[in-house]
Formats: sequence, structure tokens, C-alpha cells
Amino acid sequence: GTTLRASAAEKGRYFGAAVATGKLSTSAYVTVLNREFNSVVAENEMKWDATEPQQGQFRYTGGDRLVSHAQANGMSVRGHALLWHQQEPGWAQSMSGSALRSAMINHVTQVATHFRGKIYAWDVVNEAFADGGSGGRRDSNLQRTGNDWIEAAFRAARAADPGAKLCYNDYNTDGVNAKSTGIYNMVRDFKSRGVPIDCVGFQSHLGTSLAGDYQANLQRFADLGVDVQITELDVMTGGNQATIYGAVTRACMNVSRCTGITVWGVRDCDSWRGSDNALLFDCNGNKKAAYTNVLNALNAG
Ligand code: G3I
Repeated sequence: GTTLRASAAEKGRYFGAAVATGKLSTSAYVTVLNREFNSVVAENEMKWDATEPQQGQFRYTGGDRLVSHAQANGMSVRGHALLWHQQEPGWAQSMSGSALRSAMINHVTQVATHFRGKIYAWDVVNEAFADGGSGGRRDSNLQRTGNDWIEAAFRAARAADPGAKLCYNDYNTDGVNAKSTGIYNMVRDFKSRGVPIDCVGFQSHLGTSLAGDYQANLQRFADLGVDVQITELDVMTGGNQATIYGAVTRACMNVSRCTGITVWGVRDCDSWRGSDNALLFDCNGNKKAAYTNVLNALNAG
């Protein structure tokens, strides 16, 4: 193929981008988005603070807009994220215990029900594991409602939208390390007890090097019987950027259960990483060397 979306589709995969829905009225942005990508995820608009700004009052304007754009342009949608300790609405930040527990399960149920049938995969829980060597859970008000909050969220999401793949999503999991192993053990436990989980997202916000066991790490999760996806890829600029982009793409192509790659924005200037120039297109929408490496890796795979 000659575009990311065509080349990925030829290999039975998707190639996606995070979208800020405000940019859907910028034609230079939309031109690149529609030409190159066949999957989208909302950069912010489907998060808890955006979708339930007041308890029990749901707002789906941004998410609905993204879904209609996707449907009109042959794109699938990743849902991000039902539960995350960041970007909680203020009212939830000040809650705890059983009140928070029912509020968060209600949030999962309401949002997954609203988008039922329209989401390819949901990040049901985002970033719940701690950084560093513990391999354990991150402390948060969500975690303090009980260690079983993650499985409760997955069960609620399955009940609300049985057709969506349900993912756990995290960062700094780009090789075999204490954090990724903690997640691996949770997924293995969920599979053995029948807790509904279908996929694991590897955000892959990368610096100037790539873990040598990046592909092996994806494979060990796939071997547990879940799909794996690269969900928020961006790479610090520098001599290795194009090389790393190519290597990540090859790793996904080499793992049969790696179903797709999402980059966290379209053009460098759309990126949360600012001067890192971490994406595949420059600020004018021109293809970078990293783009060429990704396209070649998709076509070779
Ligand atoms: O919407 C408000 C706006 O009203 C206000 O005037 C402005 C002033 O700061 O802030 C706007 O909100 C910002 C929001 O993005 C929308 O632009 C927040 O401040 C800002 O913190 C928020 O940043 C997002 C960040 O998540 C929040 O944690 C980034 O855009 C988004 O790219 C980033 O994405 C996360 C993933 O969800 C999870 N993994 C890591 C990734 C990168 O941090």
C-alpha cells in the first residue's frame, strides 16, 4: 500500500491516531487524518472529566462527533478511557469508599452503554500499575475502593457493550520489567478466573532507545490469549526516531495477535510532547523519515 491505513489493512491490522475533535474543522489536519488512518481515539473527549462533568450528568458531544467522523470515513474507534486516576472530574476526586465505587461502576456502565456497538476496543482501565520495581498497583482513590476494582470495571463494561474488546492500557511497559510483569500476572489471573479481558494496550511513549525485548514482551502477553495493541505511540526526536518507529511497527507485525498501532496525534504540533517532535508528520503535514520507516515495515510484514 501507499498509505498507512491501506498497508495496515492489507495485513489485517489498523493504523490509528489520537484526535482532538476541535481539529476536525481544520482541513489540513483532516486531509492527513482521512488519507492515512483507519482508526481513531479521542485524545481527551471520552475521559471521565469530559463525559461526566457533574455526577450523573453525561456529555457526549465530543465523543459522538469523533464517532460520526470515523463512521463516515471507514475508521474504527478505540475508546479511551473509562477509568483513570487522572482527569477524574472534581466531584469524583473528592469521593472515596463505597460511594466512589458505585459512582465509578455507574460511569463505566453509562458510557459503555452510550457508545455500545460503536467501539472496537475500550481502554477500560488506564495506568493502574505503579512505576518502579514493585510490580504492584498504583495508589489512587480508585485503588482504595478495593483491589478488585479493575475486575469489577471489566465486568461492568462487558455487560454494557458485549461487542467491544476490553483492554487494560499502560505506559513504561515496553519491555519485560517489574511493571509489565505485574500487569502480566493480573491478565493471567483474569484469564484463569474468567474475568472478561480481551486485550492489553502498550502506550509506547518512547525516548531515544527501544527495549531489546519489546517484541518478546508483546508476545508473552499474546500467549496468554489476549490481543495486544500499540496504543499511544510517539518517539522523542533525534537520530533514532525513524529507526525506533520502524522497529516498533515490525514488532507488531511479527506478533500475530498485535491487531493495530495508534500514534498519539497526527502532526508534531498536535502532540502533547511539544518540542519533542514525536510524531510521523511535521507541522505542515509533510511525511517524516519516521513515516517512511513505518510504511515500509507495514508493507514488509
Ligand atoms: O480543556 C481545557 C481548557 O478548557 C483549558 O483552558 C486548558 C488550560 O490548560 O486546559 C484544557 O485541558 C487540557 C486538556 O489536555 C485538553 O487540551 C489539560 O489542561 C491537559 O492536561 C490535557 O492534557 C492531556 C493529558 O492526557 C492529561 O493527562 C493531553 O492532551 C493528552 O494527550 C494526554 O494523554 C495521555 C493519555 O490520555 C494517557 N496516557 C498518557 C497520555 C499523555 O499524557
